Amino acid sequence: MSRPPVARVTAPLGALLLLGACRGELYQSALAAKGPQAERVEGLFWFAFWVSAAVWVLTVGAMLWAAWRARARERRGEVLAQAESERGMTRGVAAGVGVTVVILLAFFFYDLAVGRAYTRRPPGDPVVIELVGHQWWWEAVYADTGVQNRFTTANELHVPVGRPVVLEMSARDVIHSVWVPNLAGKRDLIPGYTTSVWFQADTPGVYRGQCAEFCGQQHAKMGLVVIAEPPARFAQWVAAQRKPAPSPTSLEAARGQKVFLSGSCAVCHRIGGTTAGATNGPDLTHLASRYTIAAATLPNTRGNLGGWIVDPQSVKPGTHMPPNILPPKDLEALLTYLQSLK
Ligand code: CUA
Repeated sequence: MSRPPVARVTAPLGALLLLGACRGELYQSALAAKGPQAERVEGLFWFAFWVSAAVWVLTVGAMLWAAWRARARERRGEVLAQAESERGMTRGVAAGVGVTVVILLAFFFYDLAVGRAYTRRPPGDPVVIELVGHQWWWEAVYADTGVQNRFTTANELHVPVGRPVVLEMSARDVIHSVWVPNLAGKRDLIPGYTTSVWFQADTPGVYRGQCAEFCGQQHAKMGLVVIAEPPARFAQWVAAQRKPAPSPTSLEAARGQKVFLSGSCAVCHRIGGTTAGATNGPDLTHLASRYTIAAATLPNTRGNLGGWIVDPQSVKPGTHMPPNILPPKDLEALLTYLQSLK
């Protein structure tokens, strides 16, 4: 479904006006669809918007016209018989009700049609990602029929452009909802129940998503990043993610690995290829390949990573990550190790 030309012109303006220009470097707007599913949702929005706008203009126009006509009659000294005046009002109200019913039915059937198209299985051979909602981060397992080909990452999804992606979803603790406005509408993640949604990105780009169901103190900082890239680059990324973490190549990194494995980090996190295998927190096997940390809360820089490790509660009060007061040399070594996990 392609957008009508008028929507192409008004979409950026509407996004600006209605959503307060919340677009920064990343795309995050339901009014700039970048794939078929989001186009359906956006089409429905603009249909409702323009029909409502037309109804408003017609209603206000009719009121002004009625007022003008009554004034003109008054000036001419005309007085309508009561029966005639009532007949006129009845006709007006009946026409108003009729038009309203027709418009509501049009909304209803268009909505049904969009819902049907939206939930139909995607065409072709989709990428399947198992997405699990946690307070307050996303666990993503790239499914594959071969167990050795499955891999886990967190908070950032890479997807190939032009190919459908199916999210098979559940939640570990409370209800969450995934929403990447440029790519698809919202869908809840429910504990003990599997839901699914599919989307497709037709344009390469970085799209920001957000948990859209209130899930506790850090609901607002439960972001998701979707990186849509050409199929060849996606395949490269997948191949790299399937590998275990690289071994430390410097004394500093080796010391950092020891800090990680012997301290509290390994109680919650996994790093593939090491003895750390816990799944309470995000999988850190390829942490350094991610753009952000703490569920798209901070850019993945050495300074932010250090601050997050030492005092996560000041970044996301209530997060399940405890503070880790490490001697400075240990912290530096740990950061060097974590930054080597490409
Ligand atoms: Cu998870 Cu709101």
